[in-house]
Amino acid sequence: PRPILLTRHGESQDNVRGRIGGDTAISERGELYSKKLANFVGKRLKSDRAASIWTSTLQRTILTATPIVGFPKIQWRALDEINAGVCDGMTYEEIKKNMPEEYESRKKDKLRYRYPRGESYLDVIQRLEPVIIELERQRAPVVVISHQAVLRALYAYFADRPLKEVPHIEMPLHTIIEIQMGVTGVQEKRYKLMD
Ligand code: G3H
Repeated sequence: PRPILLTRHGESQDNVRGRIGGDTAISERGELYSKKLANFVGKRLKSDRAASIWTSTLQRTILTATPIVGFPKIQWRALDEINAGVCDGMTYEEIKKNMPEEYESRKKDKLRYRYPRGESYLDVIQRLEPVIIELERQRAPVVVISHQAVLRALYAYFADRPLKEVPHIEMPLHTIIEIQMGVTGVQEKRYKLMD
């Protein structure tokens, strides 16, 4: 059985500032993770010439993939982070202060809440459909480097977690979730490469 490796991008400059969305580069810590990840992937998939690396179209995932060499890389717009619309670039504090009604409605129903001019988790789940179809079709290992909200949705699909849990699944930085689909169901391993 071939593994699917899921990981968030290395810490970004916006992660450090607590800003959501955006398209910043990764921090120094994020760069350190990208090197550790490359090392891990090199060892884990060394013999598999058909393996591929999938990223979003955002800098932080592309930069996280940069040190990984020897595998084809594919960028998917469908792997981009949830679009926070008018809240893109804000901190949660700023949203709470300047748009309290938006903040409250999201808190009440994070799964269905759609950012004005942006997306909801349900929207993200829907746009991931072609990615999931392609992932299931692959015979070779795939490394998916994406974002928190998107990976919650992807993970929930493979781990068979209920829809309502999706926005609340823990998806830490600098950790690889390895999923194997075998005859006995889905097996999962986690590798925390750094804090
Ligand atoms: O920028 C978006 C975050 O990665 C998603 O986090 O849905 O918990 O606000 P959240």
